[in-house]
Amino acid sequence: MSSLALMRWLEGSPDRYDAGMKLITFGNVSKLHAAVAAAAVSKPGNRVLEIGSGTGSVTRLLLARDARVTAIDQSPEMLERAKRRLGPDAGSRVTWIEQTAAEVDGLTQHSFDAVVLSLCLSDMSPSERAYVLQATRRLLDDAGRLVAADEVYSPGGWRRVAQLLWRVPQAIAGWLLVGTVSQPIADLAAEIRAAGYEVRSEQRWMMGSLALVVAEASP
Ligand SMILES: C[S@@+](CC[C@H](N)C(=O)[O-])C[C@H]1O[C@@H](n2cnc3c(N)ncnc32)[C@H](O)[C@@H]1O
Repeated sequence: MSSLALMRWLEGSPDRYDAGMKLITFGNVSKLHAAVAAAAVSKPGNRVLEIGSGTGSVTRLLLARDARVTAIDQSPEMLERAKRRLGPDAGSRVTWIEQTAAEVDGLTQHSFDAVVLSLCLSDMSPSERAYVLQATRRLLDDAGRLVAADEVYSPGGWRRVAQLLWRVPQAIAGWLLVGTVSQPIADLAAEIRAAGYEVRSEQRWMMGSLALVVAEASP
């Protein structure tokens, strides 16, 4: 079982973010990141847009697969931490941009082989998510992939109850610490379909509460 109710608090301090995320997901965030990078890069040289790149954990794995990455984040502190972490290794293969996800419609159309959103969509409102997902379609080249990973609701029954019970104390702590808590996405695959994508695969971890959805733009 995982709960990312403390994720917003961790985002406020990039230096504790990576260790904190490993702790609250019992290490599963590393498996998630590895699966995200594997799904995003089908061959060396792929052009990947990473939205909400945070401290650069996924960026590092994308670069290890010889992708060329455009990494955007709205947080200058997160970008600074990622640059410090990857700077010398990344060289010219990564372009860092400080901007919001909603501004991606300013990027060149059809210029990416994959768009990655790892643990970023749940930070957005439903309407922002819908806007961003639609905007990413226009950025993908032919046969380009959307790779989205996030906290979702566990499938119904006892797993859902266990997730809620596990989440409540963490959500209260999150509210007390920073006054805001991210919410699981009710149906990530459905939101991606609604933006005009065809879902190719969906993988789940942690009793179904972490999902990775891979999709392609509908013709
Ligand atoms: C939980 S962190 C995830 C970081 C990384 N992708 C990962 O998987 O570890 C979410 C990141 O998305 C960024 N973010 C959240 N909402 C955003 C938005 N609307 N536009 C740009 N960045 C955003 C935050 O600043 C943060 O760095």
